[in-house]
Amino acid sequence: MSSSAADEMKRAAAAVAVGAVRPGMRLGLGTGSTAKHFVDLVGARVRDGLRVVCVPTSERTREQAVALSIPLSTLDETPALDLTVDGADEFDAQRRLIKGGGGALLREKIVAAASTRMFVIADQSKQVATLGAFALPVEVDRFGALATRRHIEQAARDLGLKGDVRPRVGRDGHVFVTDGGHLMLDCAFGAIPDPETLAHRLAAIPGVIEHGLFIGLATAIIVAGRDGVRTLGEAV
Ligand code: A5P
Repeated sequence: MSSSAADEMKRAAAAVAVGAVRPGMRLGLGTGSTAKHFVDLVGARVRDGLRVVCVPTSERTREQAVALSIPLSTLDETPALDLTVDGADEFDAQRRLIKGGGGALLREKIVAAASTRMFVIADQSKQVATLGAFALPVEVDRFGALATRRHIEQAARDLGLKGDVRPRVGRDGHVFVTDGGHLMLDCAFGAIPDPETLAHRLAAIPGVIEHGLFIGLATAIIVAGRDGVRTLGEAV
């Protein structure tokens, strides 16, 4: 698929999601190249007079929203949201996700968990039968990062998973640092047959701030393909 075809699909999914936005809503704004389209579309509706308040999931998205004059809030001021719309790196038929390829998984998960509904918007290339083709991002504290990494590797081995766990390096060639000041480990485990158990094991490791398995959070996935847009779950 060409990148412009993929981008058109991302925009088509975002357009369906923005159709669910109502005046007065409190919205979570996701991060990434797909969520960027949703933020653009919300910005256009705000320009036309829509009244909403939004919580961004990253500094990148905050900057985009500010440039579009979208009214912003924080979870401290607005702790309960009506709807979050975000992208995903992978999803399966049970609406389980891998997120964090863009580095924002911690705020993305906090914002999604604060929302009554979470819509994921994606092009069809993101759907997999089994999660794990995309290396699982795990955000870790800088303190003791090597020890934390070893615990992650051991947890993976215990579950029969193999593959490299690597510290992420940014485009500038330096170690990648998240908005929260943490490091990101990309775990190339391959197929993850039991994401729930892996999620529990990772969450129990001291030093793991958050992992990129989003389970039980997406209420709908809006998937754009060559033949149009379909929805897994209820996008109402
Ligand atoms: C950001 O941390 C990620 O979770 C993104 O939402 C995810 O990587 C999807 O990004 P794209 O829409 O750019 O593929």
